[in-house]
Amino acid sequence: MRADLVLIGFGHVGRRFLRLLEEHGARLAADHDLVCRAVGISTRRHGSLWRPEGIDGAVVALADGGGSAIDLIDRLRASTADLRVVVETTTLDIAAGQPAIDHVRAAISAGCHVVTANKGPAAFAYAPLHAEAERAGVSFLFEGAVMDGVPIFNLVRETLPAVNVLGFRGVVNATTNHILSALEDGEAFGPALARMQALGIAEADPSLDVDGWDAAAKTAALANVLMDARITPQTVERTGLTEASGAAALSAVERGKRLRLVAAARRLADGRIEARVGPVELSADDLLAGLRGQANALVLQTDLLGEIAICQLDGSLTQTAYALLSDVVTIRRRQREKGSSRSRST
Ligand SMILES: NC(=O)c1ccc[n+]([C@@H]2O[C@H](COP(=O)([O-])OP(=O)(O)OC[C@H]3O[C@@H](n4cnc5c(N)ncnc54)[C@H](OP(=O)(O)O)[C@@H]3O)[C@@H](O)[C@H]2O)c1
Repeated sequence: MRADLVLIGFGHVGRRFLRLLEEHGARLAADHDLVCRAVGISTRRHGSLWRPEGIDGAVVALADGGGSAIDLIDRLRASTADLRVVVETTTLDIAAGQPAIDHVRAAISAGCHVVTANKGPAAFAYAPLHAEAERAGVSFLFEGAVMDGVPIFNLVRETLPAVNVLGFRGVVNATTNHILSALEDGEAFGPALARMQALGIAEADPSLDVDGWDAAAKTAALANVLMDARITPQTVERTGLTEASGAAALSAVERGKRLRLVAAARRLADGRIEARVGPVELSADDLLAGLRGQANALVLQTDLLGEIAICQLDGSLTQTAYALLSDVVTIRRRQREKGSSRSRST
Protein backbone atom coordinates (compact mmCIF):
# COMPACT_ATOMS: atom_id res chain seq x y z
CA MET A 1 0.00 0.00 0.00
CA ARG A 2 1.33 3.42 -0.94
CA ALA A 3 0.99 6.53 1.23
CA ASP A 4 1.63 10.01 -0.18
CA LEU A 5 2.58 12.57 2.45
CA VAL A 6 2.61 16.36 2.45
CA LEU A 7 4.79 17.92 5.16
CA ILE A 8 3.52 21.29 6.43
CA GLY A 9 6.45 22.66 8.45
CA PHE A 10 9.98 21.43 7.87
CA GLY A 11 12.00 22.43 10.92
CA HIS A 12 13.66 20.20 13.54
CA VAL A 13 10.79 17.72 13.76
CA GLY A 14 9.80 17.68 10.06
CA ARG A 15 13.38 17.07 8.93
CA ARG A 16 13.96 14.31 11.48
CA PHE A 17 10.66 12.69 10.42
CA LEU A 18 11.68 12.62 6.73
CA ARG A 19 15.02 10.98 7.62
CA LEU A 20 13.25 8.48 9.88
CA LEU A 21 10.93 7.50 7.02
CA GLU A 22 14.00 6.69 4.93
CA GLU A 23 15.85 4.87 7.72
CA HIS A 24 12.82 2.68 8.47
CA GLY A 25 11.34 2.36 4.99
CA ALA A 26 12.23 -1.34 4.68
CA ARG A 27 10.70 -2.14 8.07
CA LEU A 28 7.48 -0.27 7.24
CA ALA A 29 7.19 -2.21 4.00
CA ALA A 30 7.93 -5.60 5.61
CA ASP A 31 5.87 -5.22 8.79
CA HIS A 32 2.99 -3.07 7.56
CA ASP A 33 2.97 -3.38 3.77
CA LEU A 34 3.40 0.40 3.69
CA VAL A 35 5.52 2.48 1.32
CA CYS A 36 5.59 6.15 2.34
CA ARG A 37 6.69 8.95 0.00
CA ALA A 38 6.84 12.64 0.85
CA VAL A 39 5.47 14.44 -2.22
CA GLY A 40 5.23 18.00 -0.90
CA ILE A 41 6.84 20.27 1.69
CA SER A 42 5.68 23.72 2.76
CA THR A 43 7.36 26.16 5.15
CA ARG A 44 6.64 29.76 6.14
CA ARG A 45 9.84 31.53 5.01
CA HIS A 46 12.10 28.84 3.52
CA GLY A 47 10.09 27.96 0.42
CA SER A 48 8.15 24.89 -0.62
CA LEU A 49 8.31 21.91 -2.95
CA TRP A 50 5.88 19.68 -4.87
CA ARG A 51 7.35 16.51 -6.36
CA PRO A 52 4.73 13.83 -7.10
CA GLU A 53 7.41 11.21 -7.83
CA GLY A 54 8.67 11.53 -4.22
CA ILE A 55 11.18 13.77 -2.47
CA ASP A 56 14.69 12.51 -1.80
CA GLY A 57 15.37 13.59 1.80
CA ALA A 58 19.13 13.56 1.25
CA VAL A 59 19.02 16.30 -1.39
CA VAL A 60 15.98 18.26 -0.34
CA ALA A 61 16.27 21.93 -1.36
CA LEU A 62 13.23 24.14 -1.04
CA ALA A 63 12.36 26.86 -3.55
CA ASP A 64 9.10 28.71 -4.03
CA GLY A 65 7.68 26.27 -6.53
CA GLY A 66 5.41 24.22 -4.27
CA GLY A 67 2.87 26.79 -3.17
CA SER A 68 1.28 27.45 0.20
CA ALA A 69 0.30 24.78 2.71
CA ILE A 70 -3.29 24.92 1.47
CA ASP A 71 -2.14 24.64 -2.21
CA LEU A 72 -0.20 21.47 -1.36
CA ILE A 73 -3.14 19.95 0.52
CA ASP A 74 -5.28 20.65 -2.56
CA ARG A 75 -2.74 18.88 -4.77
CA LEU A 76 -2.59 15.94 -2.36
CA ARG A 77 -6.37 15.60 -2.69
CA ALA A 78 -5.82 14.53 -6.32
CA SER A 79 -3.16 11.89 -5.49
CA THR A 80 -4.07 8.33 -6.43
CA ALA A 81 -2.15 6.87 -3.46
CA ASP A 82 -4.01 4.44 -1.16
CA LEU A 83 -3.43 6.79 1.78
CA ARG A 84 -3.10 10.58 1.66
CA VAL A 85 -1.59 12.02 4.82
CA VAL A 86 -0.82 15.60 5.88
CA VAL A 87 2.01 15.80 8.45
CA GLU A 88 1.63 19.08 10.35
CA THR A 89 4.69 20.32 12.30
CA THR A 90 4.39 24.09 12.24
CA THR A 91 5.37 26.30 15.16
CA LEU A 92 3.10 26.37 18.23
CA ASP A 93 0.89 29.48 18.28
CA ILE A 94 -0.22 29.96 21.86
CA ALA A 95 -2.81 32.66 21.11
CA ALA A 96 -5.18 30.51 19.04
CA GLY A 97 -3.41 27.38 17.73
CA GLN A 98 -3.24 28.81 14.20
CA PRO A 99 -2.50 28.24 11.36
CA ALA A 100 -2.22 24.60 12.48
CA ILE A 101 -5.97 24.30 13.09
CA ASP A 102 -6.67 25.62 9.58
CA HIS A 103 -4.16 23.10 8.15
CA VAL A 104 -5.83 20.22 10.00
CA ARG A 105 -9.27 21.39 8.87
CA ALA A 106 -8.14 21.78 5.22
CA ALA A 107 -6.63 18.27 5.28
CA ILE A 108 -9.82 16.75 6.69
CA SER A 109 -12.05 18.49 4.18
CA ALA A 110 -9.76 17.33 1.35
CA GLY A 111 -10.35 13.75 2.55
CA CYS A 112 -6.75 13.40 3.83
CA HIS A 113 -5.65 11.90 7.15
CA VAL A 114 -3.68 14.26 9.36
CA VAL A 115 -0.97 13.66 11.96
CA THR A 116 0.64 16.45 13.96
CA ALA A 117 3.20 17.06 16.70
CA ASN A 118 1.75 20.54 17.20
CA LYS A 119 -0.19 20.92 20.45
CA GLY A 120 -2.39 23.73 19.07
CA PRO A 121 -5.12 21.67 17.37
CA ALA A 122 -5.81 19.38 20.36
CA ALA A 123 -5.33 22.20 22.90
CA PHE A 124 -7.72 24.64 21.20
CA ALA A 125 -10.10 22.62 19.02
CA TYR A 126 -9.98 18.90 19.79
CA ALA A 127 -13.73 18.26 19.96
CA PRO A 128 -14.74 19.94 16.66
CA LEU A 129 -11.72 18.58 14.73
CA HIS A 130 -12.30 15.06 16.03
CA ALA A 131 -15.97 15.27 15.00
CA GLU A 132 -15.07 16.61 11.53
CA ALA A 133 -12.52 13.81 11.01
CA GLU A 134 -15.07 11.18 12.07
CA ARG A 135 -17.64 12.55 9.61
CA ALA A 136 -15.06 12.59 6.80
CA GLY A 137 -13.89 9.04 7.61
CA VAL A 138 -10.26 10.11 8.14
CA SER A 139 -7.89 10.04 11.14
CA PHE A 140 -6.74 13.07 13.16
CA LEU A 141 -3.83 11.91 15.35
CA PHE A 142 -1.34 13.85 17.52
CA GLU A 143 0.66 11.41 19.67
CA GLY A 144 3.78 13.62 19.43
CA ALA A 145 2.03 16.63 20.98
CA VAL A 146 2.67 15.41 24.56
CA MET A 147 5.79 13.54 25.80
CA ASP A 148 7.16 12.99 22.28
CA GLY A 149 6.88 9.36 21.20
CA VAL A 150 5.80 7.91 24.53
CA PRO A 151 2.25 6.65 24.02
CA ILE A 152 -0.25 8.62 26.09
CA PHE A 153 -3.22 9.14 23.79
CA ASN A 154 -2.66 5.73 22.13
CA LEU A 155 -2.35 4.06 25.52
CA VAL A 156 -5.70 5.34 26.74
CA ARG A 157 -7.53 4.92 23.42
CA GLU A 158 -6.21 1.44 22.58
CA THR A 159 -5.69 -0.23 25.95
CA LEU A 160 -8.00 1.42 28.52
CA PRO A 161 -11.39 1.14 26.82
CA ALA A 162 -13.59 1.03 29.92
CA VAL A 163 -11.51 3.24 32.19
CA ASN A 164 -12.50 6.76 33.17
CA VAL A 165 -9.63 9.27 33.53
CA LEU A 166 -10.50 11.41 36.58
CA GLY A 167 -7.43 13.62 36.49
CA PHE A 168 -3.67 13.70 35.99
CA ARG A 169 -0.48 15.31 37.24
CA GLY A 170 2.88 15.33 35.55
CA VAL A 171 6.10 16.96 34.48
CA VAL A 172 5.55 17.43 30.75
CA ASN A 173 8.07 20.08 29.66
CA ALA A 174 11.63 18.85 29.10
CA THR A 175 13.21 22.30 28.81
CA THR A 176 12.05 23.59 32.22
CA ASN A 177 12.84 20.27 33.91
CA HIS A 178 16.36 20.41 32.50
CA ILE A 179 16.70 24.01 33.74
CA LEU A 180 15.45 23.13 37.26
CA SER A 181 17.88 20.20 37.49
CA ALA A 182 20.73 22.47 36.39
CA LEU A 183 19.72 25.12 38.98
CA GLU A 184 19.74 22.43 41.69
CA ASP A 185 23.32 21.65 40.64
CA GLY A 186 24.26 25.33 41.08
CA GLU A 187 24.35 26.11 37.34
CA ALA A 188 22.96 29.33 35.83
CA PHE A 189 19.59 29.58 34.06
CA GLY A 190 20.89 30.95 30.70
CA PRO A 191 23.35 28.20 29.73
CA ALA A 192 20.87 25.47 30.74
CA LEU A 193 18.22 26.98 28.43
CA ALA A 194 20.82 27.42 25.66
CA ARG A 195 21.57 23.67 25.79
CA MET A 196 17.89 22.85 25.16
CA GLN A 197 17.84 25.35 22.27
CA ALA A 198 20.97 23.81 20.74
CA LEU A 199 19.34 20.35 20.84
CA GLY A 200 16.17 21.65 19.13
CA ILE A 201 14.13 20.65 22.20
CA ALA A 202 13.13 24.17 23.31
CA GLU A 203 10.25 25.85 21.47
CA ALA A 204 11.19 28.26 18.65
CA ASP A 205 10.24 31.01 21.15
CA PRO A 206 11.73 29.63 24.41
CA SER A 207 9.60 31.92 26.58
CA LEU A 208 6.75 29.51 25.75
CA ASP A 209 8.65 26.87 27.77
CA VAL A 210 9.92 29.12 30.57
CA ASP A 211 6.59 30.90 31.14
CA GLY A 212 4.69 27.60 31.33
CA TRP A 213 2.73 28.06 28.08
CA ASP A 214 3.98 24.83 26.49
CA ALA A 215 2.97 22.89 29.61
CA ALA A 216 -0.40 24.72 29.65
CA ALA A 217 -1.02 23.73 26.00
CA LYS A 218 -0.18 20.10 26.84
CA THR A 219 -2.44 20.25 29.89
CA ALA A 220 -5.32 21.55 27.75
CA ALA A 221 -4.68 18.88 25.08
CA LEU A 222 -4.59 16.08 27.68
CA ALA A 223 -7.71 17.34 29.47
CA ASN A 224 -9.62 17.82 26.20
CA VAL A 225 -8.78 14.38 24.81
CA LEU A 226 -8.75 12.25 27.97
CA MET A 227 -11.46 14.06 30.00
CA ASP A 228 -13.63 15.79 27.35
CA ALA A 229 -12.75 19.09 29.04
CA ARG A 230 -13.21 21.58 26.16
CA ILE A 231 -10.71 24.06 27.64
CA THR A 232 -7.88 26.10 26.07
CA PRO A 233 -4.35 26.89 27.32
CA GLN A 234 -5.64 30.30 28.40
CA THR A 235 -8.02 28.73 30.92
CA VAL A 236 -5.20 26.76 32.56
CA GLU A 237 -4.03 28.58 35.70
CA ARG A 238 -0.35 29.15 34.91
CA THR A 239 2.88 30.21 36.64
CA GLY A 240 6.24 29.79 34.92
CA LEU A 241 9.85 29.85 36.07
CA THR A 242 11.29 33.23 37.08
CA GLU A 243 14.55 34.81 38.25
CA ALA A 244 13.65 33.55 41.73
CA SER A 245 13.42 29.90 40.62
CA GLY A 246 17.17 29.24 41.15
CA ALA A 247 17.01 30.22 44.84
CA ALA A 248 13.70 28.36 45.27
CA ALA A 249 15.14 25.17 43.69
CA LEU A 250 18.23 25.28 45.94
CA SER A 251 16.18 26.04 49.05
CA ALA A 252 13.92 23.05 48.30
CA VAL A 253 16.95 20.73 47.97
CA GLU A 254 18.34 21.98 51.30
CA ARG A 255 15.06 20.95 52.96
CA GLY A 256 15.07 17.50 51.31
CA LYS A 257 12.47 18.51 48.70
CA ARG A 258 12.48 19.18 44.94
CA LEU A 259 10.95 22.00 42.88
CA ARG A 260 9.27 20.78 39.67
CA LEU A 261 7.00 22.47 37.09
CA VAL A 262 3.88 20.40 37.60
CA ALA A 263 0.95 20.25 35.17
CA ALA A 264 -2.31 18.96 36.65
CA ALA A 265 -6.04 18.70 35.99
CA ARG A 266 -8.99 17.20 37.82
CA ARG A 267 -12.75 17.13 37.52
CA LEU A 268 -14.50 19.04 40.30
CA ALA A 269 -17.69 17.83 41.99
CA ASP A 270 -19.78 20.18 39.80
CA GLY A 271 -18.30 18.62 36.64
CA ARG A 272 -15.99 21.54 35.76
CA ILE A 273 -12.31 20.88 35.05
CA GLU A 274 -9.66 22.58 37.17
CA ALA A 275 -6.32 22.78 35.32
CA ARG A 276 -3.06 24.36 36.44
CA VAL A 277 0.66 24.57 35.70
CA GLY A 278 3.31 25.92 38.07
CA PRO A 279 6.37 25.22 40.19
CA VAL A 280 5.49 22.91 43.10
CA GLU A 281 7.70 21.78 45.98
CA LEU A 282 7.50 17.99 46.12
CA SER A 283 8.66 15.60 48.80
CA ALA A 284 11.72 13.62 47.69
CA ASP A 285 9.79 10.34 47.48
CA ASP A 286 7.27 11.74 44.96
CA LEU A 287 7.74 10.06 41.56
CA LEU A 288 7.84 13.48 39.88
CA ALA A 289 10.57 14.73 42.26
CA GLY A 290 12.95 12.07 40.96
CA LEU A 291 12.77 13.35 37.35
CA ARG A 292 15.99 15.06 36.31
CA GLY A 293 17.17 16.64 33.08
CA GLN A 294 14.86 16.04 30.14
CA ALA A 295 12.88 13.31 31.92
CA ASN A 296 9.08 13.65 31.87
CA ALA A 297 6.32 11.67 33.55
CA LEU A 298 2.54 11.66 33.66
CA VAL A 299 0.41 10.09 36.39
CA LEU A 300 -3.15 9.33 35.29
CA GLN A 301 -5.78 9.07 38.03
CA THR A 302 -8.43 6.58 36.94
CA ASP A 303 -11.62 5.09 38.36
CA LEU A 304 -10.86 1.39 37.82
CA LEU A 305 -7.05 1.16 37.80
CA GLY A 306 -6.09 3.75 40.41
CA GLU A 307 -2.95 5.65 39.40
CA ILE A 308 -0.97 4.74 36.28
CA ALA A 309 2.42 6.39 35.74
CA ILE A 310 4.15 6.77 32.39
CA CYS A 311 7.81 7.90 32.40
CA GLN A 312 10.07 9.11 29.65
CA LEU A 313 13.67 9.23 30.81
CA ASP A 314 15.17 10.99 27.81
CA GLY A 315 13.12 12.87 25.21
CA SER A 316 14.59 13.63 21.78
CA LEU A 317 13.71 14.76 18.27
CA THR A 318 13.86 11.15 17.13
CA GLN A 319 11.13 10.27 19.61
CA THR A 320 8.89 13.11 18.39
CA ALA A 321 9.48 12.05 14.78
CA TYR A 322 8.71 8.46 15.83
CA ALA A 323 5.36 9.64 17.24
CA LEU A 324 4.42 10.92 13.77
CA LEU A 325 5.57 7.64 12.24
CA SER A 326 3.52 5.65 14.76
CA ASP A 327 0.47 7.75 13.87
CA VAL A 328 0.97 6.96 10.17
CA VAL A 329 1.16 3.24 11.06
CA THR A 330 -2.06 3.60 13.10
CA ILE A 331 -3.76 5.02 9.99
CA ARG A 332 -2.50 2.05 7.95
CA ARG A 333 -3.80 -0.40 10.58
CA ARG A 334 -7.20 1.28 10.64
CA GLN A 335 -7.35 1.03 6.83
CA ARG A 336 -6.53 -2.66 7.06
CA GLU A 337 -9.24 -3.25 9.71
CA LYS A 338 -11.76 -1.36 7.56
CA GLY A 339 -10.86 -3.55 4.58
CA SER A 340 -11.19 -6.79 6.54
CA SER A 341 -14.52 -5.82 8.15
CA ARG A 342 -15.82 -4.89 4.68
CA SER A 343 -14.78 -8.27 3.29
CA ARG A 344 -16.35 -10.05 6.33
CA SER A 345 -19.69 -8.34 5.68
CA THR A 346 -19.75 -9.20 1.95
N1 LIG B 1 11.24 20.11 18.87
C1 LIG B 1 10.70 19.22 19.69
O1 LIG B 1 11.39 18.49 20.41
C2 LIG B 1 9.20 19.02 19.72
C3 LIG B 1 8.66 17.99 20.52
C4 LIG B 1 7.27 17.78 20.51
C5 LIG B 1 6.46 18.63 19.76
N2 LIG B 1 7.04 19.67 19.03
C6 LIG B 1 6.15 20.52 18.24
O2 LIG B 1 6.38 20.25 16.86
C7 LIG B 1 6.21 21.45 16.09
C8 LIG B 1 7.47 21.67 15.27
O3 LIG B 1 8.58 21.83 16.14
P1 LIG B 1 10.02 22.14 15.53
O4 LIG B 1 10.98 22.03 16.67
O5 LIG B 1 10.23 21.35 14.28
O6 LIG B 1 9.83 23.69 15.13
P2 LIG B 1 10.74 24.53 14.11
O7 LIG B 1 12.09 23.93 13.99
O8 LIG B 1 10.61 25.95 14.54
O9 LIG B 1 10.00 24.33 12.70
C9 LIG B 1 8.73 24.83 12.45
C10 LIG B 1 8.45 24.73 10.96
O10 LIG B 1 7.12 25.21 10.71
C11 LIG B 1 7.17 26.10 9.59
N3 LIG B 1 6.02 26.99 9.62
C12 LIG B 1 5.66 27.88 10.57
N4 LIG B 1 4.51 28.50 10.22
C13 LIG B 1 4.13 27.97 9.02
C14 LIG B 1 3.07 28.20 8.12
N5 LIG B 1 2.14 29.11 8.39
N6 LIG B 1 3.01 27.46 6.97
C15 LIG B 1 3.96 26.55 6.68
N7 LIG B 1 5.02 26.30 7.50
C16 LIG B 1 5.10 27.01 8.64
C17 LIG B 1 8.51 26.80 9.73
O11 LIG B 1 8.89 27.42 8.53
P3 LIG B 1 10.04 28.57 8.54
O12 LIG B 1 11.26 27.96 9.14
O13 LIG B 1 10.20 28.88 7.09
O14 LIG B 1 9.49 29.69 9.37
C18 LIG B 1 9.38 25.59 10.09
O15 LIG B 1 9.70 24.86 8.92
C19 LIG B 1 5.90 22.57 17.08
O16 LIG B 1 4.51 22.78 17.12
C20 LIG B 1 6.40 22.02 18.42
O17 LIG B 1 5.68 22.53 19.51
C21 LIG B 1 8.36 19.85 18.97
